[in-house]
Formats: sequence, structure tokens, C-alpha cells
Amino acid sequence: MTIDQDKLGEFLGTFVADLGAAIAAGNVVVGHRLGLYRNLAGAPAAPEELAQRTGTDPRYVTEWLRGQAAGGYVSYDPATGQFWLTDEQAYALADPDGLYLPGAFMLVLGALRAESQITDAFRTGAGMGWQEHHEDVFSGCEMFFRPGYVANLVSSWIPALDGVAGKLAAGGRVADVGCGHGASTVLLAQAYPKAKVLASDYHQASIDIARKRAADAGVADRARFEVASAQTFSGTGYDLIATFDCLHDMGDPAGAARHIRQALDADGTWLIVEPIAGDTLAGNLNPVGRVYYSFSTFLCVPNARSQPGGYALGAQAGEAAIRSVAGQAGFTRFRRASETPFNAIYEARP
Ligand SMILES: C[S@@+](CC[C@H](N)C(=O)[O-])C[C@H]1O[C@@H](n2cnc3c(N)ncnc32)[C@H](O)[C@@H]1O
Repeated sequence: MTIDQDKLGEFLGTFVADLGAAIAAGNVVVGHRLGLYRNLAGAPAAPEELAQRTGTDPRYVTEWLRGQAAGGYVSYDPATGQFWLTDEQAYALADPDGLYLPGAFMLVLGALRAESQITDAFRTGAGMGWQEHHEDVFSGCEMFFRPGYVANLVSSWIPALDGVAGKLAAGGRVADVGCGHGASTVLLAQAYPKAKVLASDYHQASIDIARKRAADAGVADRARFEVASAQTFSGTGYDLIATFDCLHDMGDPAGAARHIRQALDADGTWLIVEPIAGDTLAGNLNPVGRVYYSFSTFLCVPNARSQPGGYALGAQAGEAAIRSVAGQAGFTRFRRASETPFNAIYEARP
């Protein structure tokens, strides 16, 4: 073995950053749950002040703040001993209508609770369904994805679809399939008050929360919910059927695509929101690809393996694989309508 010290040093630098990020994930979630970021966004504080303002223990808060400052998640002034959040840190960490990144770490911690089951699944090939995960997976997913939908769904993704915005404004019919906690459902119902939305998911607990989210947002009169799989949800004649970040999770995406095809109006549109990915592994070997492949190993592939169908597209399926699923179901038109750094937005039409 010939060790190149420069290359080893470079790798160890990556390792230290990753190790810090891994244990810092728990610290981010603690800061979120206890309102430490939110409070600090309001005004700078020394550790004792922040502890006092949040009803927490000063020694723990001191250690937490030091780690946060070392990671660049909070700012620190050695002259005053005070910590604070810059506007960018506050937008990313403390604002529910901003990026709200702690949700991503909640999703990570929730997913990692399944580590022993996933390790066993590597040996046996068994699946692990969405519903078998810790509830932080569902809430973390909602918190992580919702800001992207707030920023893009109504302002850019729907207008990018041929003729859809006009139909929904006039009172179209929408199905939101695999809706989770219903973040996208509520946004669509708010933006298009004349449209009727049926949201479905095969996970009962997620539907219960989604129904509550719609009631809290005052859109229960136009958003209905049902527990149903993507292969069985009810209704036909839809103008728009949407699958937000869930097609690749399914064991039978082709079956879902066929069901969506027959449920759509002849002039309808299937909006497919998927993680952004290239068609080759080499094209996905980057930080975003790493995030998705790693989530996929714990969440998406096991979920697909838990369902009938034999597919496990994974969270980096890429455009060619999604196009193929749509084509198998009889969709004749398929295009990439939009994209963000995290999502590809496809339009499929009969
Ligand atoms: C990553 S989450 C996305 C949830 C939601 N669409 C969002 O964007 O926040 C994937 C969702 O797909 C649902 N799901 C997985 N397989 C399904 C299937 N075969 N039919 C319906 N829903 C399914 C899960 O229960 C989960 O709510």
C-alpha cells in the first residue's frame, strides 16, 4: 500500500466535515424543537440570556452555541461574547416560511432510527414501508419539501404546464397522489379556490394530518382526502393529477401510471415532481446526488421493496426512467417543464 499523504489529508478533511455534520444533525433538531434558532433570530444573546429566554439550561445552551458557531450555523462575536443569526442564517434555520432547513435534519434523524432494520434488509432483501418509520420522517419530509413547493408550485411549476393554470382558475379537478401531509394539496387549494382537489396517500396517519392541515388553512371545503394507493385512488376526469416526490418510492410505478392515465381527462395533465437527477451514475456523483442516494437507501428503495410490483427506481431515477414509466402507461407526450436545484418537473399527457 502506498499512501499519498496529500490525498489522505484531503480525504480526512472530508471525513471531519462529515463527522461534524452527522452529530450536528441532532443539535440542529434540538435547536429547532426548543426554539433556540427562532429566539436567537429575534435578538443576539450570550448563552445565559438565550437559556433564560427559552427556559433551557445555560450549560447545555453554551455547549450547543459553541458547536453551532464552529459549524457556521450561528454567528459569534468574541469581543462581546454574544451569539446571533445573520439574516441568511435566520432565513435558512428559523423562518417557517423561509428555507426551514431543520426539517431536513429531522428527516435524517427519523430515517436513521431505522438503521438496524435497514441493515437487516441488506441481508434479507426485505422492504420497509413508509408507515413503519418514525413519525419524524413524515414531519421532517413535510418541513423539508414544503418551502420548495411554496416557492415554486403556483408561481412557476403550474404555469409551466400547458393550459393547466387556466383550467384550475376556472374550477378544474385535481388529484394529489401520495400527498403525505398535504403541503402541496393546501397550496393548490389556496391558489385555485374554484378547483376541487382529491388528495390521497396509502398511509392513514399522513392522511389524518393532511386533513387537519387543510382544515387549519380554511380549504376543507375544496380539498378532500382518502386513504388509497396510487394504483387505486378514486375518481376520473381529472384535469391535473400530481405526484410530488413519490413516484420513485413505489413498488409499482407503472401500475400507478396506468391508473393515473385512466383517471385523467382526455386533455388532462400528469405533473410529476421528482428529485433532480441525471440519467447516468457518473452524472449523479455530486453532493445533491449523495443526499438523495443516501435518503433513498433508507427510505425510497425499502418502501418500494415493501410493495408489490418489482420496481425500486430510487430517488435518482433520472428522466429516462420516469419517461419510460409514463410511456409504458400510454402517455404519448412527455417533457421536462421546469426544474430547481433539487427537483425535476415533468409534464406527461395522454
Ligand atoms: C417522500 S413522501 C412525499 C409526500 C408528499 N407528496 C410531499 O411531497 O410532501 C412519499 C409519499 O408517498 C407515499 N406512498 C408511497 N407509496 C405509495 C403508493 N403506492 N401509493 C400511494 N402513496 C404512496 C408515502 O406514504 C409518502 O407519503
